[in-house]
Amino acid sequence: MVMPTVLADRFAPLDYPEYANNHVFVKTAGNHGLYNHSHEHHNNHGDHQNLGLAKQLIGEAFRQRVESVDNEFCNPGDEDPFFVADLGEVYRQHLRWKLNLPRVKPFYAVKCNDDPKLMHMLATLGTGFDCASKNEIELVLKMGIDPSRIIYAQPCKTNSYVRYVAEKGVRQMMFDNPDELRKIARLFPDAELFLRILTDDSSSLCRLSLKFGASLDSTDGLLALARELGLNVMGVSFHVGSGASDPKAFLKAVQDAHWVFQQAATHGFDLKTLDVGGGFCSDASFEDMAGVLRNALDDYFPAHSGVNLIAEPGRYYASSVYTLACNIIARRIIGEEHSQANGTSYMIYVNDGVYGNFSSIMFDHQHPVAKILRAGKRFLFDTAAAAASPDANAIEYSVWGPTCDGLDHITESIRFDTTLNEGDWLYFEDMGAYTMCSATTFNGFSNDHDVIYVCSEPGALALLGRL
Ligand SMILES: Cc1ncc(COP(=O)(O)O)c(C=O)c1O
Repeated sequence: MVMPTVLADRFAPLDYPEYANNHVFVKTAGNHGLYNHSHEHHNNHGDHQNLGLAKQLIGEAFRQRVESVDNEFCNPGDEDPFFVADLGEVYRQHLRWKLNLPRVKPFYAVKCNDDPKLMHMLATLGTGFDCASKNEIELVLKMGIDPSRIIYAQPCKTNSYVRYVAEKGVRQMMFDNPDELRKIARLFPDAELFLRILTDDSSSLCRLSLKFGASLDSTDGLLALARELGLNVMGVSFHVGSGASDPKAFLKAVQDAHWVFQQAATHGFDLKTLDVGGGFCSDASFEDMAGVLRNALDDYFPAHSGVNLIAEPGRYYASSVYTLACNIIARRIIGEEHSQANGTSYMIYVNDGVYGNFSSIMFDHQHPVAKILRAGKRFLFDTAAAAASPDANAIEYSVWGPTCDGLDHITESIRFDTTLNEGDWLYFEDMGAYTMCSATTFNGFSNDHDVIYVCSEPGALALLGRL
């Protein structure tokens, strides 16, 4: 068996050991600026006190776990992949949100990652929840969240789910077509409706407007039908596409939403809420995106308009919280039979792949970057030697998942100065969004992996009642 770590794992109750608390306290005593609002927020240099502490806690959690595994003797599955999640990062991201979009209340998109501890942290911070299905809604309600903090942000809903939310009092939901309006009129006429409009999502990683959203030449007819059916249209929503990169998409969408607000007034609707959707990344692009959005909102929906502003961020909150460790289960030397004069290269096989937590490669167009966690007895987390080498003569690797499918390919080519062997460990950062939620058990590999939780922010620990 793997030796238990001192930190809570996925199956333990939410509990942070004294060790972690003290660590946080000592390192941050006298630090009044928990969050530094700057583009350096996500640098890797450890020059921000709490980010340095985060690396320290994450590294320690990794070290304890991997040192407890000897793959020459361990039981089946002891060397399975696992995550380390820093709940302090959720807290930092929330403060960053509040600084940049102070008027916009986030409703976390559960689909992105439904880890109960992440959701608990968000609930404690006061966010709402964007749900796409009955199960997600049930999960949130079971956390004791009031139905008014849930939006059923799915424009094309399952009949029985609409009956379910009507019974549970989850009233806020989306529509973008006449059939859906008639469905809602039949099943939940008291629902509070948002008209989801089409956006230009061509700059995003995952385009959503191919599937959802009413074009501006259809909104007049939809509002007329809603009025005729006696329905309650409360607001407008949009989504600029997941992983958006063009801030101008937000400006155009806000302008279009403003136009629909005016159009709705001509049908006798007094719209109260604008939902600006998701699409925000957690990297330095956030400040640019949020800046453009904030200015657009101030111009078109100023505070004195009385319009409530909400959003549905997913990736923004989850991505950078989770770091994944994988074990190298096998290695193949390329061109073994030839002279190694031109440098050896290897195929390495790890115990997670595109059918598992790297599903983000297929479904979310991501390119996770391998770093070396442990090579032999050397623990390299967050050191220069952990990262890929820029030297063209360094040892070349391709990284493959564990299934029998040739598609199960994580990295085409990466070079390290270190020779990696079976039993060594790799890690991948920013693995919290659209990863474990779409992992399968293809080829019999588990998709239920341990998560070791740390917390690098005393503010977050205080909120969780752990200080
Ligand atoms: C309706 C809706 N809201 C919110 C999100 C979350 O988007 P993101 O993770 O890009 O913030 C999605 C993602 O697919 C979505 O479909």
